[in-house]
Amino acid sequence: MKILKEKSREYKGNSYFKYKVNIPEGALNRAHLKEGEELLITAEPGELLLFAKNKKKQEFDGIRSKLYREALMKYPEARVEDIEVMKKYLAPKKGERILEIGAGSGFFSRHISELLGSEGRLIVSDSSLEQLEEIKKLGKDNIDVIQFVQFGSEKVDLEKDKVDAVWSLGAMHHMFKKSKSFENLSRITKKGARIVIADVFSGSNLAKHFDDKVAKFCIVGHEVAFWSKEYAESICYLNGFSKPKFHDLDIKWKFKKKEDIGFFLYKLHGMTKTTPTNCLKGTEEILGVQKKGRSYYLNWPLTLFITYKK
Ligand SMILES: C[S@@+](CC[C@H](N)C(=O)[O-])C[C@H]1O[C@@H](n2cnc3c(N)ncnc32)[C@H](O)[C@@H]1O
Repeated sequence: MKILKEKSREYKGNSYFKYKVNIPEGALNRAHLKEGEELLITAEPGELLLFAKNKKKQEFDGIRSKLYREALMKYPEARVEDIEVMKKYLAPKKGERILEIGAGSGFFSRHISELLGSEGRLIVSDSSLEQLEEIKKLGKDNIDVIQFVQFGSEKVDLEKDKVDAVWSLGAMHHMFKKSKSFENLSRITKKGARIVIADVFSGSNLAKHFDDKVAKFCIVGHEVAFWSKEYAESICYLNGFSKPKFHDLDIKWKFKKKEDIGFFLYKLHGMTKTTPTNCLKGTEEILGVQKKGRSYYLNWPLTLFITYKK
């Protein structure tokens, strides 16, 4: 099919055009779209994507998003060490402008927003509108919410007020175009800005846990692209960032009862194709659980890297 150009109107001496393509009926049917439906468009070199607003389901929509939220609400103590990691390595300062990638239901967002204070700004992004709705409910004046349908392939419009720092934990392994995303980050960060990313790295026990258990039992599967230190270094090099410094974190998630670990992971990872008991069994084998005092600790070995805009 060809793109057809048609003049649509003349206004104050300027001509305006619209472009048409003939879409085969079969394609519309397969997409469950109808005549008259309102579409949004995203563009990339050589590619246009048309989609119905609020209908493009993301991996973290529906039951997956609901269970994720429930896990965090039911076990608010479990991830306290994650917050300490954010405070230590991102160390948000009053008045800064920070972008959070894959913010989910806002586990870190409310803490970051408090540390930035009323003069600061937190821009939270996620591909799932349902996850972002939870962040809107926090009702914080210094938080802006944006949806990336596929962060990395889309332009983030932050040209005027560039950011001081970028934070992302446990999200970027869902992104297949990391190099494109770093191109964007390079454009929207100030000179000297820090990028702090904590995520799952290939070869780690966490990667094993996700590939062996979550991919099999998660309601929406788990097809992802884990990081390697070499690749992280290459995309920093290619996009004007300093050589990243890596930290293999020794995070432990904390629970009152051993069974809670199974319930937490069952919900957090939407592993509805198995049982909480099996989730606990699998994780004990791969990640390891220890009892200290009255609490149980689950190893959660993320790797974090920091790089600065040159
Ligand atoms: C495991 S959750 C982590 C959420 C949050 N950072 C936390 O630690 O609780 C991963 C999040 O990444 C989001 N995500 C997946 N693909 C993404 C993309 N391409 N761009 C931005 N966010 C994405 C998901 O919707 C989900 O909310």
